[in-house]
Amino acid sequence: MYRSPITRQAPFRLAAFHKMLTGRILGSGAYLPERRLGNQELALTIDTSDEWIQARTGIAARHIAASDQNTSDLATLAAMRAVSNAGIAATDLDLIIVATTTPDQTFPSVATMVQHRLGCKPIGAFDIQAVCSGFLYAIATANNFIKAGAAKRVLVIGAEVFSRIVDWQDRGTAILFGDGAAAIVLGAEDAESGRGCLGFKLCADGQFHDLLQVDGGPGFAHGQVGKVRMQGKEVFKHAVQILSTVSDEILAQYSLQSAQVDWVIPHQANRRIIEASAEKLGIPIERVIITIAEHGNTSAASIPLALHQGLSDGRLQPGQLVMLQALGGGFTWGAGLIRI
Ligand SMILES: CC(C)(COP(=O)(O)OP(=O)(O)OC[C@H]1O[C@@H](n2cnc3c(N)ncnc32)[C@H](O)[C@@H]1OP(=O)(O)O)[C@@H](O)C(=O)NCCC(=O)NCCS
Repeated sequence: MYRSPITRQAPFRLAAFHKMLTGRILGSGAYLPERRLGNQELALTIDTSDEWIQARTGIAARHIAASDQNTSDLATLAAMRAVSNAGIAATDLDLIIVATTTPDQTFPSVATMVQHRLGCKPIGAFDIQAVCSGFLYAIATANNFIKAGAAKRVLVIGAEVFSRIVDWQDRGTAILFGDGAAAIVLGAEDAESGRGCLGFKLCADGQFHDLLQVDGGPGFAHGQVGKVRMQGKEVFKHAVQILSTVSDEILAQYSLQSAQVDWVIPHQANRRIIEASAEKLGIPIERVIITIAEHGNTSAASIPLALHQGLSDGRLQPGQLVMLQALGGGFTWGAGLIRI
């Protein structure tokens, strides 16, 4: 087959001028609602105790949004802090992705509300729904926009008011969940700098639908708003297995060993799940960032809350390798590797 010299040479010319890009974290921010609901106070309304909750979950308290606060309010506050921490202006952003399962309304998306309140240009803005894996799905998507050269500065937010979908009479779930928001700004970085996202592995398997779900909501299948329903023991068992498997898979994908991982930032679902997964992976618990005691399971907000904590208290240092891990309803799950 005839191929013109121009066609043959073009890819080489492109490669010479086209830098490989990846997303690096430029800044982070978080917001927890003022109202702190401790275990002892919760035990006044349901049959449980501080000792039981701490021993079985590692949770001491959760934060609850005020009745006039919605996910977009929490998301906007976290986003303003992240943008300021990144040292940029909101007008420098060119994409906003919000991970949430508890949007203010069926539509418009929370992301469009944040875009307007921050005073951004009319940039792309959309929500992602993958429950507790939402932030992982969102940062992976943001990174792909950056790699493709389609965005330079992306605001990635995880925000929830899970308290609105918790059945406060169900002691199997009421003890676990809380509200919160956290955000990062991901900026385009030359992949050869050695910093930024290495990659992500995202998974889902709908056969686990019944183990963790909301029996209502905007899907209209149930004709009611719905509450979280969970088979806790089953979720626990699958979570440990799935999280350690996906962590091994992503390490193998990048030819890395667990000893090379400086920090693990897991979804904050249950301290015992976090400890068991770290042990299976062979990572000492001292190298895992755990913030669950103070805010419980905040679904899509939990990974960025822990990430923000690690960045602001100085544990996470430039050049260190961080693994993100998440599992949520669906099931959805995944892992990611980032060099800070
Ligand atoms: C919910 C969860 C904490 C329950 O812990 P568990 O060890 O599985 O507890 P069990 O349901 O087996 O119950 C053990 C006992 O404690 C009791 N119990 C259950 N919930 C209780 C509570 N909140 N307070 C006090 N006692 C409780 C049970 O009735 C049972 O009593 P019994 O032995 O007399 O029958 C645990 O299953 C869990 O965390 N699962 C994963 C949930 C999760 O992370 N979901 C989100 C994923 S994104």
